[in-house]
Amino acid sequence: MPFVFPTHRPRRLRTTPAVRRLVRETSLEPRHLVLPMFVADGIDAPREISSMPGVYQHTLDSLRAAATEAVAAGVGGLMLFGVPKPEDKSGDGECGVDPQGILNRGLRALADEVGDATVLMADTCLDEFTDHGHCGVVDDAGRVDNDATLAQYRRMAVAQAEAGAHLLGPSGMMDGQVGAIREALDDAGFTEVGQLAYAAKYASAFYGPFREAVGSSLQGDRRTYQQDAGNRREALREVDLDLAEGADMVMVKPAMSYLDVLREVADSSPVPVAAYQISGEYAMITAAAQRGWIDRDAAIAESLLSIRRAGADIVLTYWAAEFAKRA
Ligand code: PBG
Repeated sequence: MPFVFPTHRPRRLRTTPAVRRLVRETSLEPRHLVLPMFVADGIDAPREISSMPGVYQHTLDSLRAAATEAVAAGVGGLMLFGVPKPEDKSGDGECGVDPQGILNRGLRALADEVGDATVLMADTCLDEFTDHGHCGVVDDAGRVDNDATLAQYRRMAVAQAEAGAHLLGPSGMMDGQVGAIREALDDAGFTEVGQLAYAAKYASAFYGPFREAVGSSLQGDRRTYQQDAGNRREALREVDLDLAEGADMVMVKPAMSYLDVLREVADSSPVPVAAYQISGEYAMITAAAQRGWIDRDAAIAESLLSIRRAGADIVLTYWAAEFAKRA
């Protein structure tokens, strides 16, 4: 009797690079990638972030140059974070709201440099600008005051729209932030400025390097406003609320440890879904590669592809420009 087993040979579709390319389900193009960038006040040369080798706090000039390079490489957008001078921080984070603050000056520089050639996004959150490091205003008892924070976010949003942002990224996880910002933008006539809402944002140990990147002064943690790692349903509720309040896109963050949540959001979302490959994810791959323990470029490509495969239309990654150049 001839040996006929196995009848099914999935390996046929893996035999050559050409057939593998033909049948790959998920694509990853430069336009899918958004580059987060940091602009710092009071520095006269770009400063490399020690826990994120290859990522810099920019001066206004180096920000312009890096943005031009990223846009030429074809990235889909830029997301800007501001790093104020430590002495400018305050309890209410006013230097983040100030039109002359570093974030808004950075936005104007980017609008001037790359303008409508890309989608210009801004972090709409106070943690980089508060002396206590929380994403909102803190009351006398030391609690993050939701509604007092919304008042600051409204002013911050209008200042960012005036500075030239196309899309705001409210990332503070305050209740009602998307609705409050929508109302403030509309009242000021910025009906076309949208929001990429950080809808499902988890309290994560992997934000560590970012806190160095922005010189955060946070003591303690963000567990009274960011989500608990054990929860899935809560993410769907946050997405529903943000959509009801007028979010134009929604985000899941971090990416790698939350790919199941991303898949679930992507399956039901009527708007584009983004995921943020955060600082700790960048640091882990970079550190392991530096030790020769993993193949850097292959690990980067695999990590980004997995986020797309899990359903993200858009991926925020510190490798956006590098990967776009490679693509
Ligand atoms: C809040 C904000 C954070 C990140 C993006 N927006 C920090 C936090 O919540 O602690 C983290 C991004 C990263 O880790 O790469 N403004």
